[in-house]
Amino acid sequence: MTIAVVPGSFDPITAGHMDIIRRISKLYDGVVVGVVVNPSKKPLFSLEDRVKMVREAIKDNEKIEVDSFDGLLVGFVKKHKARVIIRGLRAVSDFEREFQMAQLNRRLNPDIETMFVMASPEYAYLSSSAVKEIAQYGGDVSGLVPPNVAKLLRSVWA
Ligand code: PNS
Repeated sequence: MTIAVVPGSFDPITAGHMDIIRRISKLYDGVVVGVVVNPSKKPLFSLEDRVKMVREAIKDNEKIEVDSFDGLLVGFVKKHKARVIIRGLRAVSDFEREFQMAQLNRRLNPDIETMFVMASPEYAYLSSSAVKEIAQYGGDVSGLVPPNVAKLLRSVWA
C-alpha cells in the first residue's frame, strides 16, 4: 500500500488543488489531504471550515481522506504510514520555495520522497489568494473552486 499526502493551507481549496488530488488518487492506493493548522499566513477560514470544505469537495472519492496537522509535515506523513509528499507546481516562481521545503523534509526524514505534479494549464494561474480577492470584490469564482466553496465564499462577503 503506497499512501501519498497532499499537504497545504487550503484557505480555501481551489479547482487547481482538486485537479491534483484527483489525478494523484489514480496513481496511489490512498491519498491523505493534510490541512495545516497554523500556516504562516493568517488564514481567512478556520481550520474546521477548511477541513469541512475539503471533505465536502472530495466526498465522492473513497480513496481520499482528510486530516489536519500541526507541527512538522514529516511527522504527519509518518502518522499516516505514507511515503510520499505531493506538491503541485504552477510556474517556475513556485520552484524555489518548493525546492527548499523538499530538501528540508528529506533532511528530516530521508525515507519520505517529495514528488511534484505540474498543474494542468487551465489552473496554472490559480491560487487561493487570487480566489479570495475576486470573491471579496464580488467577482464570479464559480469554476475556480468547488461549488460548496463558491457558496461559502459568497456568504463571507454577502
Ligand atoms: O498550501 P501551502 O501554504 O503552500 O502549504 C505549505 C505547507 C503546509 C506544505 C508547509 O507550510 C508545511 O509543510 N508546514 C508544516 C511545517 C513543516 O513541516 N516545516 C518544515 C519543512 S519546510
